[in-house]
Amino acid sequence: MRKPFIAGNWKMHMTISEAEDLVREMLPGLEDVSSVEKAVCPPFVDLPVVADLLNGSDVKVGAQNMHWEEKGAYTGEISPLMLQGLCDYVIIGHSERRKYFGETDETVNLKVKSALAHGLIPIICVGENLQQNESGLTSEVVRSQVTADLAGLTPEQVSELVIAYEPIWAIGTGKAATPEYAEAVIRDDIRGTIAVLFGKEAADSVRIQYGGSTKASNIESFMSMPDIDGALVGGASLKAQEFVEMIRIAARTKSS
Ligand code: PGA
Repeated sequence: MRKPFIAGNWKMHMTISEAEDLVREMLPGLEDVSSVEKAVCPPFVDLPVVADLLNGSDVKVGAQNMHWEEKGAYTGEISPLMLQGLCDYVIIGHSERRKYFGETDETVNLKVKSALAHGLIPIICVGENLQQNESGLTSEVVRSQVTADLAGLTPEQVSELVIAYEPIWAIGTGKAATPEYAEAVIRDDIRGTIAVLFGKEAADSVRIQYGGSTKASNIESFMSMPDIDGALVGGASLKAQEFVEMIRIAARTKSS
């Protein structure tokens, strides 16, 4: 059985003191929801204080990016060694990183391999843009991202990681995909491709989230889909009470 997983991607929001306030506000509401795995992914500078506040709770911490090398002359970058001990998860290949910072499936693949080698669980983001969607290219784009991003991994490694299907046109737009549409892409294009490349066991074990304009009012419809295991939440994860509400709804939906 795949444990449902809701993660908050804070993006470039929250100073250290704001991060502290946000975590303090959400923590009491999350403590008794053990059937859903939950994580927050703050900016790098917030990681120590957030990890410290969450120590002893079952809320996990994730980073939003990392370099694949352990150290070196890469000004401005953060390595997997620096993240060890601070977080369990790391978001890799978010569409904003691909769009604004030139990340490609090749660099995503290097980062995924490095994260796994350093005991960090990657949350790998894939998804088509509006033009690709409107041209009927969704399946092709998503299948090719999954194939390239996971290249060289073992079925066991694939079973452990997390994939977030985030159609780019749904991110931060208030226009979420329909749950039926997201379910079809996740089931056929993501799990389907993984089944062909890594076998049915890996396809059945890998956790796949939906991301893109999820909020308290629509999370139930996504969580009621059999192949959607959770959500990567952007904007709504910056509001403590709404994020808590989403996790509580996710727990209710998956247990019913
Ligand atoms: P959103 O962002 O929930 O604000 O649409 C999701 C994401 O980019 O991970």
